[in-house]
Amino acid sequence: MMEVIKKRRSIRKFKEEGVSKESLGAILKAGLFAPSSKSKKPVEFIVVEEKETIKNLKECKSFGTSGLDTAPLVIVIIADSEKSDVWVEDASIAAIMMQLEAESLSLGSVWIQIRKRECANGDSEAAVRQVLGIPEKFGVLCLLALGHKAEERQPYEDKDADPFKVHTEVY
Ligand SMILES: Cc1cc2nc3c(=O)[nH]c(=O)nc-3n(C[C@H](O)[C@H](O)[C@H](O)COP(=O)(O)O)c2cc1C
Repeated sequence: MMEVIKKRRSIRKFKEEGVSKESLGAILKAGLFAPSSKSKKPVEFIVVEEKETIKNLKECKSFGTSGLDTAPLVIVIIADSEKSDVWVEDASIAAIMMQLEAESLSLGSVWIQIRKRECANGDSEAAVRQVLGIPEKFGVLCLLALGHKAEERQPYEDKDADPFKVHTEVY
């Protein structure tokens, strides 16, 4: 587990080759097995492989979307805000579990933030909802861009873990 955690780095350049059905299935399962508050399971996913749709998703955010330029696969992470008042936490846990599963399959991924972000047409969440026909009650957390890595990133090392972030007994 620690090896996968250290190796997972944000990857923003991908090869053309798509993600296999088996790998996609495993990544989705990792998200579907994620814990959620009161086990309400408000999180849902939209799998996007159509190039034109990925291009339209890129328009939904002004900055930080370079991962979408080459990603053959995007998983949009949404959650029913009427099912849970802590859908952001639930969706975030699902997202990182999927990123770790992707890394365990030697695939690259990057989290592209949508919630609280903007584009030329206004709110990014509203823009993604419109592109994909998502009902209003769903919050849109992020887009996970995924694929075979076309850039190398150094895994984290023990020295990168800042011990000063950890307090003992009191702050
Ligand atoms: C909540 C959150 C939002 C992020 N938003 C973006 C984003 O919009 N675009 C992007 O390219 N990377 C985004 N990232 C990736 C971070 O930039 C990245 O995790 C950070 O620089 C640390 O690098 P690492 O992932 O390689 O450890 C986001 C990560 C998190 C956790």
